[in-house]
Amino acid sequence: MFKVHAVAAHRLPQLLRQMPKAELHIHIEGSLEPELIFALAQRNGVALPYASVEALRAAYAFTNLQSFLDIYYAGASVLLHEQDFYDMAWAYFERAAADHVVHAELFFDPQTHTERGVPMETVIHGLHRACVDAKAQLGVDAQLILCFLRHLSEEAALLTLQEALPFKDKFIGVGLDSSEVGHPPEKFTQVFALAKAHGLHLVAHAGEEGPPAYIWSALDVLHVERIDHGVQAIHDPVLMQRLAKDRVPLTVCPLSNQKLCVFPNLADHNIAQLLDAGLCVTINSDDPAYFGGYMNDNFVQTFAATGMNAQQAYALARNSFEASFVSETQRQHWLHELKVCFEGFVEHDD
Ligand code: HPA
Ligand code: ZN
Repeated sequence: MFKVHAVAAHRLPQLLRQMPKAELHIHIEGSLEPELIFALAQRNGVALPYASVEALRAAYAFTNLQSFLDIYYAGASVLLHEQDFYDMAWAYFERAAADHVVHAELFFDPQTHTERGVPMETVIHGLHRACVDAKAQLGVDAQLILCFLRHLSEEAALLTLQEALPFKDKFIGVGLDSSEVGHPPEKFTQVFALAKAHGLHLVAHAGEEGPPAYIWSALDVLHVERIDHGVQAIHDPVLMQRLAKDRVPLTVCPLSNQKLCVFPNLADHNIAQLLDAGLCVTINSDDPAYFGGYMNDNFVQTFAATGMNAQQAYALARNSFEASFVSETQRQHWLHELKVCFEGFVEHDD
């Protein structure tokens, strides 16, 4: 890796903001800002159990993952038509572009919508059209990853995959999200095997609140290529060695971990430890509208709290491209741009 020059602490936020980066862990339904939730509720005649934008925001005081998910699924209830899904994704892409996110892999939860009678096609077409426009109009490259809700059955996940397969050209992989504890990865062995047989990429949330054993089974039973969150790996030294040796990417979400009380104090987050242990760690926003920040907020606040430096910033951005599901040519292009950004930043240091 090329030698990263030291950057004065007061200039680090500027570098973090302007460096090109990939976002690999963003639930698009978690980018719905309260203002858009209310606008869509009005447009679609959906009643919300909150009187105002302020009342909704005031409810964002989470104690764990489940306390968040209850509100997150209520927020998603305003999404009915293809244009709603487009508008939600477009709002995210505008923020991503402002944060110098050049590539994004977006999770979406079709079961949250199909269970309410919204057709699969409506969800996928709306999101995919926004991805196409993001590339053309904002220069943000984007792909979709379909997530299964792990609190529901594997039969439901299998039906969901069958329903989505006619649109297989519009998403690149499958993931696993929602309530983790009590719903281990191995519950979804068959559906992940089927997705793999269809040539789809595989990822899964594991080790956010759940034990290291869930990370082991995501790797060895589901055969995932990345672990979403994965911060509980720190409690299992053998697992840490495995993750480092195989460069299994972890898509870590610091502000999410803080807001859901995984690390109530950001200064206590273990991201620097994971990075120092040789893991392919990345920084991501998870559900930015609910957790108080998009990509650059995550980078700037995490670096301020933990005291990480420019070398670590470079490693995290580099890892985001290493971990992304893009062509080797595209990856090399962005790694070059990243290097140019860091070299240019040093030249103009005062
Ligand atoms: N964890 C699990 N499921 C989720 C999350 C998360 O952080 N965000 C949206 N669904
Ligand atoms: Zn997540």
